[in-house]
Amino acid sequence: MAKLTLDRILQSQGFGTRKWCRELIEDGEVSIAGAAVTDYRAAFDTADLHFTLFDEDWTYREHVYIALNKPANIECSRKPSHHPGVLTLLPEQFTWREVQPVGRLDHDTTGMLLMSDDGAFIHAQSSPKRHVPKLYVATTHDEVTAALIEQLLHGVKLHDEPEALAAVTCRQIDSHRLEIVLEQGKYHQVKRMLAAAGNHCTALRRTAIGSLTLDALNLEEGEWCYLDTAQLALLV
Ligand code: URA
Repeated sequence: MAKLTLDRILQSQGFGTRKWCRELIEDGEVSIAGAAVTDYRAAFDTADLHFTLFDEDWTYREHVYIALNKPANIECSRKPSHHPGVLTLLPEQFTWREVQPVGRLDHDTTGMLLMSDDGAFIHAQSSPKRHVPKLYVATTHDEVTAALIEQLLHGVKLHDEPEALAAVTCRQIDSHRLEIVLEQGKYHQVKRMLAAAGNHCTALRRTAIGSLTLDALNLEEGEWCYLDTAQLALLV
């Protein structure tokens, strides 16, 4: 791993412009291995690099991979218009790092949202060719019936979609809730499929992507965590 100067390291981690990062260093706000480093030209190997900024410990990360338990009334779009954007739930340096959601959840959908600043990862995860199963729990306005489940499994035709879309699996949880697994990520797909099958979705929660479950992450609504290599490997 190449060495980087401390000002570049701080900037790459989203702590502000190079000029601002140099000022932080010269002001003695950055420590490595317990000692303040005030020369911004000092170079460090970034592999397994830990540093302290404003008394908070950080680990250098070339990219960040995050899972968020998204609450309702938060927008995933870049320019949110009616509700706060999803980046408001993360520390400010993630905005500087240009962290983005991997795909989108509707403003009223809750549950697992992946976020990253790794363009290749975002692209690969969002590719329609990947067929990553996503598990949702949908609450319905009308009762869940065997006929509804049958239609969702068989496939329903949505306006603007050339082919009927079918759930990979679908099972009833109780009178007004079902669990549905989809491999595509079409716009409002669960809600539109339920509407096409004659019901109406009143609440939607994404509980897993691939084999990575929200339960295993143990996040309260609005909380986030970094994903490690083992967790990323479950996203298939
Ligand atoms: N399907 C929907 O209808 N909305 C979402 O947010 C995700 C999947």
